[in-house]
Parts: sequence; C-alpha cells; structure tokens
Amino acid sequence: MSILKKLELEPYRASRVAPELRDRSVEDVTEAIREKVLETHAELVMAARMSREKRSEMVSLVSELIVSCDLYVGRLTRRDLAERIVQELCGLGPIDEFLDDPAVTEIMVNGPHEVFVERNGVLEKTDVRFSSDAHVLDIINRVVGSVGRRVDKSSPYVDARLPDGSRVNAVVPPLSLNGPVLTIRRFPERYSHLKELVSVGTLPAFMASFLQECVACKLDIVISGGSGSGKTTTLNVLANSFGQDERIIVIEDSSEIRVVGHHVVHLETRPENVEGKGLVTVRDLLRNALRMRPDRIVIGECRGKETFDLITAMNTGHEGCLSTVHANSSKDCIARLTGMALMSEESVPLNVLESWIGSALDLIVHMRKHPGGARVVSEVAIVGLDEACIQVARVYVHEEGIVVQELPGWFLSKVGQERAERLSDALFGEAKGR
Ligand SMILES: Nc1ncnc2c1ncn2[C@@H]1O[C@H](COP(=O)(O)OP(=O)(O)OP(=O)(O)O)[C@@H](O)[C@H]1O
Ligand SMILES: [Mg+2]
Repeated sequence: MSILKKLELEPYRASRVAPELRDRSVEDVTEAIREKVLETHAELVMAARMSREKRSEMVSLVSELIVSCDLYVGRLTRRDLAERIVQELCGLGPIDEFLDDPAVTEIMVNGPHEVFVERNGVLEKTDVRFSSDAHVLDIINRVVGSVGRRVDKSSPYVDARLPDGSRVNAVVPPLSLNGPVLTIRRFPERYSHLKELVSVGTLPAFMASFLQECVACKLDIVISGGSGSGKTTTLNVLANSFGQDERIIVIEDSSEIRVVGHHVVHLETRPENVEGKGLVTVRDLLRNALRMRPDRIVIGECRGKETFDLITAMNTGHEGCLSTVHANSSKDCIARLTGMALMSEESVPLNVLESWIGSALDLIVHMRKHPGGARVVSEVAIVGLDEACIQVARVYVHEEGIVVQELPGWFLSKVGQERAERLSDALFGEAKGR
C-alpha cells in the first residue's frame, strides 16, 4: 500500500495537545509542517532538492518536527510521513531517480518526451517522460526557484547554481522549440587535489608535480578544452594548490569553484533585471577585483571582453592568475584569447595584442574528453615571446609524455633564473625518475 493511501486511511491525531489539533487531515498536517520547514530551514530545503544526503537529513528533521508537534500517527511510522512530506517539498518528479545515481553527471530534459543523461561520461537516452510542457516547467521552477530564480515567457532562460554546486540551465518557449529544456550538471565526484586527478588517470604524477610548481611559481595559467572536458575541475584543483597566505578573488558567472581552507572572496555576475538594468559582468567584477588587493585572481571562464582586462592584469604585475577558455588545442587557445580580447572596445592592433598575450600568459593546460568519458590533460604548453613574436611550445603531450629536452631560452628569460631552475627541475627531474 502506498504511503499516501496508508496516511489517508489513518488520519492524524494529536495525542495530548489542544483539541484544535485533533483529527487534522493529512493535508493539513503536511501543509503545517511544510510551512514550518520552509520558514525555518529554507536553505536545507534548497540543498535537499539536489542532494540525497541532504534529503535524508531533511527526513530526520521533519520526523523530529512531527514529534515536537505531539502528533500521533496510528499504525504508521513517523518516517513514512516525513518521507512523504520531504518528497513533496523537494522531489524532482520523473528525474528524481537520477539523483540516486552517482554515475549520472548530467541530466538533460529536451521537452516532456525526451530525457537524456550522461552516465559514466557516456550520453544515453532514457525512457523517462514528463506528462506535459507544464509538468517540465513546474519542475524547472522548482529547481531554479530554490535559488530565487524563475523562468516563464517573459524571462525565457535562466542560469543557476544550486547550493550543492550543481549547475542548472533552463530555456523555455518561445526560445526553445522543443518545449521547456532543462540541463543539470551534477558533481557527484568532486576532485579537489591533483593527486585525485592522477589516480583517475587524468595526468601522470610527474606532470601533477610540474603543474604544482607552476602554480607555486605564480605562472599565469589558462586551462583550455572543449565543452565538458574538465576545465573547471582542473582549475579548481590548481586553485587548491595556492598558498594559504594568499588572498584569492574568484569571479564567475555562476559559482562552481570551491577553494577549500583558503582566504577566498567569491564574486558572481548578475543578469539584468526585467527593466534591462543592473547587469554586472565578469569584466565589471574583474575591474573591481583589482582594487581588492588580490594575490590571485581566478576567472571561472573567459568568454568575452573580460579577456582583454585579464591580459592587462596579468601584464601589470598580477601574477598567478587562473582562467579557462573553450578551445580545441593549446595553439587554438591563443587565437580564441586574441579574438575575445579584440571584442573589447579598446582598439589595439592584432599584432600588439598577440605580443601582450605572449608576455602575459605563461602556461596553457589543454584538456580533452575521451569517448569513454575519461578526461585527460592532453597538452601542456609554455607561452612567451621571442623577438616580439608570440611563442607556444608544447612541453607535454598525453600520448608521448614530455616532448622537449629543455625549456627554451625565451621562456627562461621570461620567468627569471630562480623560477626557471625550479620549473626545469620539476619537469625534467621528476620525469627522469619516473
Ligand atoms: N579529471 C576528470 N576525470 C573524470 N571526470 C571529470 C574530470 N574532470 C571533470 N570531470 C567530470 O566532467 C564533467 C565536466 O567537468 P567540468 O565542469 O570541469 O568541465 P568543463 O570543461 O569546465 O565544462 P564546461 O565546458 O561546461 O564549462 C563533470 O561531471 C566532472 O565531474
Ligand atoms: Mg567549466
């Protein structure tokens, strides 16, 4: 018998409380507890919408509330009722089941009749269905509503980050022709340290040590790669290698990066409001961050004009910056950075811009997603200038290992002797010992 049925058969009764609480219907009790929980534990409700762990925390909380209300529930267990209330508060309808599966990293709803998931890195179509567009819309608003956002015809798309770190995007008609579309990226497996990436085969241990040394030497690093190739994860892991005494400013569109146990300030962009006002961009935040005495600046992703300001910051003494860029290779990364920097209204000739990038950026870590779902560091390239011409030299390629005998002169003179020695030792010393 379903919990609902059992509850209907056995209405609530208050055991030893005021008469007005006696014989309340299941709906009344559910509603009263729902209101109480939303009022006192709104954050937990939001978190429980995307996390099973939080959900069982909520079930325990609601069970306690039932006890504190002195309600008597006949033959039924309190847990049954608590679970039903929590399901009503936090459930995600047909896609709820995917929250139980740690192998599911992406849930994609393309209108009511098509739901895909990425499981163990592989895309698969599921037989899950919603009953209608309105049903999908309801679940979308339940997900994004938990962080104070909404979608409807007047604001037909939304980006949101949920308290558990999941990233959500929704687009609804008229922008989407499939009906309401929801994309949820989950991070059931969060990698925080380079050694974890080594253990899943993303990069060899000697490369991890080299990258760690690059971070310690305050090189300016960009992580490039295709969509979902693990750029943000790698950036996050590198940011966790920052020194404990450094002040880190993290700027993102929707916050994903977690730098644990450091002195961190997180800044997040803001979309414009319904009147088209109040927009705050990555570029605005970066300009502001420069006045916040940063030791390190981390930009979640460079997508546009902010690239110009990041390059300028790197060139004006802000060492050790980190960011990511969508690109197909380390060489393509330079082209993308140049193209995006050109989008800024500053009129700088192309060759000047290229040489700025050559002197600003020190290292590119290029990520690739393998067809089986694994993510690898596919190239590591050093960047610099030789006679005012930008140079990009790969020092590591996934299939071949280290592909240079020594670091080129233009790079050594760029980073200075002390750092050059440290970097050479890390790269060649470790590699020899492998
Ligand atoms: N090294 C790794 N090994 C295995 N899985 C990984 C690795 N890095 C990231 N992932 C998984 O791949 C997915 C995408 O990761 P991430 O968000 O870091 O990629 P991205 O390149 O930043 O994506 P986007 O282009 O959307 O910004 C996540 O589910 C993450 O858990
Ligand atoms: Mg990313």
